[in-house]
Amino acid sequence: MKNRNISHYPPDEWKIIEEIFNPDMIPRNETIFALGNGYIGMGGDYEETSNFFHRSTYLNGFYESEPIIYGEAAYGYAENRQTILNVTNGRIIELFVDNEPFDLSTGTILRYKRSLDMKNGQLIREVLWQSPSGKRIEIRVIRIVLFNYKHLAAVSYSVRSTDKDAELILKSCLDGNVRNQSRDSDPRIGTSFDGQILKHQTTILDGTGATIRHVTKNTHFNLVCSMENQLATRCHYTVKTEQSENQAAVIFSIDAGKGEKIELSKYIAYYTSLDDHDDLIFLAQDEVRLAKERGFQYFASCQHQFLNTFWEKSDIHIEGDIAVQQGLRFNLFHLLQSAGMDGKTSIPAKGLTGEGYEGHYFWDTEIYVLPFFIYCNPHTARKILEYRYRILDKARQRACIMSQKGALFPWRTITGEETSAYYPAGTAQYHINADIIYAMRKYIDTVGDLDFLKASGAEMLFETARFWVSLGDFIPGKDNRFCLNCVTGPDEYTAVVNNNTYTNLMAKENLEYAVKIAAWLKKNDPGEFKRITGKIELLESEIDEWKKAAEGMFIHFDKEHGIYAQDDSFLTKAVWDFPGTPEDNYPLLLHYHPLVIYRHQVLKQPDVVLAMFLQGNRFSTAEKKRCFDYYDPLTTGDSSLSPCIQSIAAAEIGYTEIAYDYFMKTARMDLDDINGNVKYGVHTAAMGSTWLSLVYGFAGMRDYEGRLYFNPRLPEPWKRLRFRLIVQGRSLEIDIGKESVVYTLHSGPDFSITHRGTETLISTGKQVKVDISPKIEAVIFDLDGVITDTAEYHYQAWKKLSDMLKIPFDRKLNESIKGVSRMDSLNILLKHGGKVFSNEEKQVLTDSKNEYYKSLIKDITHGDLLPCIDALLKDLRAEGIKIAVASVSLNAEEVIKRLQIEDLIDFRVDPSVVVKTKPDPEIFLIAADKLNIPYRNCVGIEDAEVGIKAIKSAGMFSVGIGKQLKDADWSIKDTTELTLSGLKEHWA
Ligand code: BG6
Ligand code: MG
Repeated sequence: MKNRNISHYPPDEWKIIEEIFNPDMIPRNETIFALGNGYIGMGGDYEETSNFFHRSTYLNGFYESEPIIYGEAAYGYAENRQTILNVTNGRIIELFVDNEPFDLSTGTILRYKRSLDMKNGQLIREVLWQSPSGKRIEIRVIRIVLFNYKHLAAVSYSVRSTDKDAELILKSCLDGNVRNQSRDSDPRIGTSFDGQILKHQTTILDGTGATIRHVTKNTHFNLVCSMENQLATRCHYTVKTEQSENQAAVIFSIDAGKGEKIELSKYIAYYTSLDDHDDLIFLAQDEVRLAKERGFQYFASCQHQFLNTFWEKSDIHIEGDIAVQQGLRFNLFHLLQSAGMDGKTSIPAKGLTGEGYEGHYFWDTEIYVLPFFIYCNPHTARKILEYRYRILDKARQRACIMSQKGALFPWRTITGEETSAYYPAGTAQYHINADIIYAMRKYIDTVGDLDFLKASGAEMLFETARFWVSLGDFIPGKDNRFCLNCVTGPDEYTAVVNNNTYTNLMAKENLEYAVKIAAWLKKNDPGEFKRITGKIELLESEIDEWKKAAEGMFIHFDKEHGIYAQDDSFLTKAVWDFPGTPEDNYPLLLHYHPLVIYRHQVLKQPDVVLAMFLQGNRFSTAEKKRCFDYYDPLTTGDSSLSPCIQSIAAAEIGYTEIAYDYFMKTARMDLDDINGNVKYGVHTAAMGSTWLSLVYGFAGMRDYEGRLYFNPRLPEPWKRLRFRLIVQGRSLEIDIGKESVVYTLHSGPDFSITHRGTETLISTGKQVKVDISPKIEAVIFDLDGVITDTAEYHYQAWKKLSDMLKIPFDRKLNESIKGVSRMDSLNILLKHGGKVFSNEEKQVLTDSKNEYYKSLIKDITHGDLLPCIDALLKDLRAEGIKIAVASVSLNAEEVIKRLQIEDLIDFRVDPSVVVKTKPDPEIFLIAADKLNIPYRNCVGIEDAEVGIKAIKSAGMFSVGIGKQLKDADWSIKDTTELTLSGLKEHWA
């Protein structure tokens, strides 16, 4: 991903400010300065008709449909496209000064400032302009799109001729001459229509108001736009109306005295037949008439109050980085502006700021955006979920077309029908079903809205569970596991594969949750259970099938790499030629045929890594780390959904700097136009992800079944991160500093959270402060060669075996098997000696080595502790520093017993649970996780090179016993130097 990272807006915590008129910035500023209320979306173009890029106005869910023309069609392909429509432009106000039009590219701009005020929800423009003939005009325009009044927008246009009298004309228009953008070759931009889609029907002019009605060409939807205008001035003026094809205007001609203030207030309302079946013209006219009576100030203060409440619940405060603060608030503000709040619409991928992705709703909403609403604006979250329930019937029909039972939600849609014309990256992304259920579960667990679950949620849940069972099969060739074949996961650079791990895991969870809720409903509300199962004719035997499918779900784990394979074929493909790919060839989708991309190991966005975040409780940290290490270098980030997940995953495994770098690509993605396409609309998912990256990333929150877990760590440049969450009606504040985190329960009954593995109770109105400062909290010891000199006995035992096998063995070769498991050590020896044995023979050989080793250790006593170890263990104990042993030796337990130090050890890792041995960090990560200590606060002590590598890769401080271990953070000759004070000194 290219990082353009140049900010054009000065840092400001609450505003996005444009300080000069720069024609080059017009396209992207139409997105940046767009206003919306979840229903109306108004582009950030000017009121005058000069200097624009696209001039867009959208109504959430208002679209036109056309048959999709396929070169080669096939059964079940999506039939019709749906495209959000650019509708009547109601915000035009043209100004003429002594008959010269006010136009920023003529005359002289003496002062210019435009700002998006996110506290007040206003777009404000202030200009001092000198007309070509020399009149100085001061203009101040405030535009608002009302959050509390879905159908309404308002403009206050103030103008003053500062030096001389002037003849001013203010022409306030409704313009139906609007079109959608044309598509070029970028599939991410909308699709244009042939000819005019909005057919003009009626124009009504009435004093200072006007109304235009249009009807869409194919779908015959009605669209009505009304305006009312009110002029406030002491100057003399006349008013007239004007009408032309597709346009209506109210024209004020004013004898403007020098310095006299003239203010035009304009109110604009939109209604469509998708909203209401009543008299749309009456509704729209009534709305603007009432608005005119109330006046602009009334609406300005409504807007302020609404946003006050919004920010109180939603704001995240970041101290130490004003650019991030600005980007974050910008993103949250746009999320608010994008979210349909009527239960009939959702959140388009480009918000209401562009035609990119045609105004469609994808999984972006549920996975990337909904968590923010669930935790900060649960009412909106419910509305978004209600939308999914509203389209459930269509999802049932789609499942039927796809020869399946239950319901299949469309990959992309406005009204519920599948509209993706490219099934490999459309319908094949069945995971959307499970994504919706995942978000719904989060909503139910967090909000506790059982009414929704009963009224709508359970039905969606059961129908999606039904779908999975009918889609998958128990495949004999796969050990009779339950497989989901021919699917596409989140990564769209791999398509139509078997057993995509993300899909299988998410389907598994979907099925498990369905089983759980079915049992719960049956027990707690048998009436509702009967109603729902009766409605969808659900049999008890189906619930058993869900259980079996969930339990038998095939999850592809690759033992060799110790990672989850993205799907059954992914790891057998060639790795993409990254070094040979020119920078300009990204995003790959614009430069390579899909088949070229599909046959390589290359990702558009995280897939397994995303699953490991969403279902973090199913994986060990070591697995998460290995998967991140494997997949991240293969991830292009060509999707805007990419960096946030990479950031969260990196934060969890202790790659804080990487997490921060990825976060920066998300936080200001649109504000800095990092992907170079913001002119086509915002990246809603990335905006939602900023919140995810902060809360799940740096604050380290996880939420499983309504319980919250925190493990926070701030990136270096920040001093503080503070935010609020609404959890089951409670208001919880999390305030993270460098040294401590403070949890405050502002309202609601006492609540317990888990901070780094420790259950922490927070009482109402109280604070709990927890120390998170960097310090040594745990020391994890290797055993052989660190605690006791059994390394020498291992040497002798291997030497004896090697002599017997006639393999030359010396101290140097011994170094290379130090820390390595028994069988792996033998393999190294045999390779060195050029010998080959069967597995059974190798077993006999390792057994005989072990017999000899055991005879050597049988007399070990407490006195065999290496120098200073006893004192160190006791000192650590005394200071409350945790102690663990991370040895791959299967004899470790016995050796520890003989050394009589069992009581001093808090935890010993059982080597048989370790999947990948040293230098993989797994054994050290297991120890730290078990002790609930963050890796950075752990010390690892080793005498083997592989051990030092493992400790370092676990993100811990490493101590090397033996001067040859140069890579260790602190390398010492032997344990005589190993004291707690020495350790502290070097750790600091
Ligand atoms: C490690 C030693 O601790 O344990 C290795 O450093 C040894 O040298 C390994 O091979 C396995 O030990 P065991 O007791 O399981 O054979
Ligand atoms: Mg060792």
